[in-house]
Amino acid sequence: MTIKKLLTSLNDIKHGQDFEIQGWVQNNRGNEKIKFLALTDGSTVDTLQLVIKSENIKRFNLDKINLGSSIKVKGKLLLTPTAPQPIELAVDDLILINNTDEDFPIQKKETTLDFLREIPHLRHRTNLFRAIMIIRNALLFEIHSYFQKHDFLNIAAPIITSNDGEGAGETLIVNSSEGDFFKQKSFLGVTGQLHAEAYAAGFKKVYTFAPTFRAENSHTTKHLAEFWMIEPEVAFYELNDIIPFADNLLKTVISNVIKKYPSEMKLLDSLKDNNLITTLKKYISTPLKIMEYKEAIKILEKHKKEFEEQNIFFGMDLGSEHEKFIAEKVVNGPVAMINYPKDIKAFYMYQNDDKKTVAAFDLLVPGIGEIIGGSQRESRYELLVQRLKELKIKQEPLQWYLDLRKYGYAPSSGFGIGFERLVMYVTGVANIRDVIPFPRTPGNIKM
Ligand code: 4AD
Ligand code: MG
Repeated sequence: MTIKKLLTSLNDIKHGQDFEIQGWVQNNRGNEKIKFLALTDGSTVDTLQLVIKSENIKRFNLDKINLGSSIKVKGKLLLTPTAPQPIELAVDDLILINNTDEDFPIQKKETTLDFLREIPHLRHRTNLFRAIMIIRNALLFEIHSYFQKHDFLNIAAPIITSNDGEGAGETLIVNSSEGDFFKQKSFLGVTGQLHAEAYAAGFKKVYTFAPTFRAENSHTTKHLAEFWMIEPEVAFYELNDIIPFADNLLKTVISNVIKKYPSEMKLLDSLKDNNLITTLKKYISTPLKIMEYKEAIKILEKHKKEFEEQNIFFGMDLGSEHEKFIAEKVVNGPVAMINYPKDIKAFYMYQNDDKKTVAAFDLLVPGIGEIIGGSQRESRYELLVQRLKELKIKQEPLQWYLDLRKYGYAPSSGFGIGFERLVMYVTGVANIRDVIPFPRTPGNIKM
């Protein structure tokens, strides 16, 4: 039995029922007559209150039990419907499994996120990180459920690959210590998309949910060298089909997480001036705004005085300040930006009739910017070959991908959700390093 199950099934509990549980001490307060320990088992941010009275306090040596210690307790469950905690455990027996040493860095007093980033193996012992990791897990589960309910096939795109799937040259190289293991250039995958496209041509609806790797030298609060991406790919879908799908997926997933994790969301909400849940609920109930890239350029041009980068022109890659301006000031909510200039987007995107833009979309959200990038894929073999030439990308390693266009190809569209960016959005956490257990960034690979 977990604390989460216990707290959500109070109706099934008999007052005075025997109960036994293991966990960690999160708080230890009281006096010589009565002590209250808060016990966590990681299943929820809520704790189980342990009550220990009179002679037992000395018997269990409670004054010596430090925060973070692991214990096993036995006792009787008492329903306390009028108290702030609806249930408590009156302890008859307590076994200290392992006390924490004095130097345990997680203490009751507030610590900074910077400090906690130095101890990624221990920071989950704070309530904040417990909440973040529980929401991360919840999002993962809801995303898988959504796809499974909609008859998507999960595919294991390879982690090690001979393709630079984005053609951006931001790859981490894989080799054995002896060298030349695969007898050709091999990378950690930057995307599972190309492999997902192969499977979409046959399974129709597929998705990946896997780590991806980018050697981007970006020291920002939104970039990791190792991040998780969810990449659905749907055959017979065009851009206008895939955008509403992405919108529905996100809204369903977020709404379920808010409903199912009230304690964690409440804790995170309190750290965001109680504005997090309201903002998310507003997003869920508002139709997604769609904006042409060229329309955004016109708006940004009018406000260029407000930016650091004031050179605004059709063809520019929008900076984070521009993306945020559109999402925060213009739309005041998430926005799907569509039809980007082809020169700032990847080789595989469908070239629009205007010859200038591609059928791409980015989902931009306030506070973060891009959380999804996707597109309709170029279906025309010749145009794809020509695009590779223009971009000086070698055709040979991608020949298999080009060949898909020859064997019963159907239009195909898909997107990638940056999983950590989604976790940031839902938890309100500002730095991407704080929503993944062990973050990897340029120059930083702890543990
Ligand atoms: O826009 P991106 O580069 O698109 C792709 O990789 C496509 N192959 C997806 C597809 O169509 N199947 O990346 C998708 C998302 C971004 O919107 C962003 O949220 C996230 O992945 N992302 C990163 N997240 C953390 N750290 C990084 N370095 C990221 N790079 C991209
Ligand atoms: Mg992108």
